[in-house]
Amino acid sequence: MSDAISLAVIGGTGIYRLAQLQDVEAREADTRFGRPSGPVRIGTLGKARVAFLARHGEGHSVPPHKVNYRANLQALRDLGVRRVLALNTVGGITDDFGPRVLACPDQLIDYTWGRVSTICEEDGADVLHVDFGDPYTPALRKHILDAANVTGVTLVDRGCYGATQGPRLETRAEIARMRRDGCDLVGMTGMPEAGIARELGLDYACLAVVANWAAGCGDAIEITMAEVLANVDAASARIVDLVTVLANAGQ
Ligand code: HPA
Repeated sequence: MSDAISLAVIGGTGIYRLAQLQDVEAREADTRFGRPSGPVRIGTLGKARVAFLARHGEGHSVPPHKVNYRANLQALRDLGVRRVLALNTVGGITDDFGPRVLACPDQLIDYTWGRVSTICEEDGADVLHVDFGDPYTPALRKHILDAANVTGVTLVDRGCYGATQGPRLETRAEIARMRRDGCDLVGMTGMPEAGIARELGLDYACLAVVANWAAGCGDAIEITMAEVLANVDAASARIVDLVTVLANAGQ
């Protein structure tokens, strides 16, 4: 088995550990952008070395607008990571994206504001204008879809992720606007993470876990955290199967 980390996984709301990770070692990192949300846990899944980081911290103490996205990604890069699988808990907007669906979106729209969204922030830093036409690395998306096929996990192979500011959920009118804009999914953490990953030269793709119908899309009058967490929990076994195959492909 190679010592190199085959895959890093960033866990979203409801996914704070990869319980199947073996021989785990926790690394507390300090990067040029400060500290990540928590320890990076490195272990093995099958024959592959895998790193896991909880985006909101292991006790879900960091809200979406306060996540140090730069430090999280830099910490992974400093460990030699090349491929990042972002797990994002989302609401579903359009018909194919109901609760418990897993999706691999291919586009995004950024509605966030006031977040540090680039590694070019500091005076004197090189100004980068990275290509972002395909915000998720096509080759990594293909590997995710291949892993889904191998494991028999059903995955929607498309979707536009709309990143909102949070931490509150959206109004019905906001979601109606996002639908008109072409969004299929809504979440609070897709950006600036994807953009910073591109700036850092990381392969990056999203596995979105639909936890609820977004405001005004299903029958529910109200979205509850209990519903969100129950649906993420129900999807987590499928996610681990997929991650294991993805990490071990080519090992
Ligand atoms: N909106 C934004 N973020 C989310 C949602 C939602 O409905 N569900 C889970 N994360």
